[in-house]
Amino acid sequence: LGPASNAALAQPFPNRTVSVIVPFAAGGPTDTVSRLVSEAMAQNLGQSVVVENVGGAGGTLGSQRVAQARPDGYTLLLHHIGMATTPTLYRRLGYDPTGFETIGLVTAVPMTIIAKPNFPAENLQGAIEVIRREREGINYANAGIGAASHLCGLLFMAAINAPMTTVPFRGTGPAMTELLSGRVDLMCDQTTNTTEQINARAVKVFAVTVPQRLGSLPNVPTAAEAGLPGFEVTIWHGLYAPRGTPMEVRQRLSQALQVALRDEKVVRRFRELGTEPEPQARATPDAHRAFWMAEIAKWRPIIQAAGQYAD
Ligand code: MLT
Repeated sequence: LGPASNAALAQPFPNRTVSVIVPFAAGGPTDTVSRLVSEAMAQNLGQSVVVENVGGAGGTLGSQRVAQARPDGYTLLLHHIGMATTPTLYRRLGYDPTGFETIGLVTAVPMTIIAKPNFPAENLQGAIEVIRREREGINYANAGIGAASHLCGLLFMAAINAPMTTVPFRGTGPAMTELLSGRVDLMCDQTTNTTEQINARAVKVFAVTVPQRLGSLPNVPTAAEAGLPGFEVTIWHGLYAPRGTPMEVRQRLSQALQVALRDEKVVRRFRELGTEPEPQARATPDAHRAFWMAEIAKWRPIIQAAGQYAD
């Protein structure tokens, strides 16, 4: 190495743009969270943090891109609970779905069961009756196997014991467009994507998937209130780096994440969209890894019982 490259090596991390791969389409819930957090992290890191959407195959295409990237901290993955379900849902992948380094947990987002504006029901019980009658005649939009919307749909269909026809998109951003125009019927999607459409009455809403009503959607019943006790799903998100990324680089990124999660604009916007930033103690590599591994173990038997795999 010449003197110039020695100088480059000695420069503290980061000394150029950091890319955050979002494994879903732009304009959706993961994208919304990622852009807010990336902007705040950039301020702390003193470098641009650019979000890149690599959607498709339920988040596995974007994940694969990061799995194969150089482990130098300049290519990161912001992904959700799909990191815990994909190892069970997919029998064959071109990468190891557990082969990532953790940086920190970001947020945990409630979901909402929503329908196209002219769906012929006014509440969850009415919607369940329609689905049980029409079955595969109802189109359920999701973002592919491994998506949060896929997981929620799987649990919902199992809970009401009725199948629907699944229509996959590259993310629930594009799926929402189809729902708004009535080309698909129903979706279960994160409040980070649905709150504004619900409050504008552009979609019908039947329930939130958490035990307490949300301050941002005070008139929307919980699934338990609406007649599905125990139907709960929260979509946690975390920030990852490729396997082999050095600990000091991950610590620096984790520190920037912790600062970003206390940023006034991030906190305010998260709350408007029905979620909260993770506390500092969970936005660390170790807390994130322990939680992720526990989530893989938690979801494995549930997915096996619901029985719907990708090949
Ligand atoms: C997205 O960003 O499009 C979503 O997180 C999709 C999903 O997982 O349902």
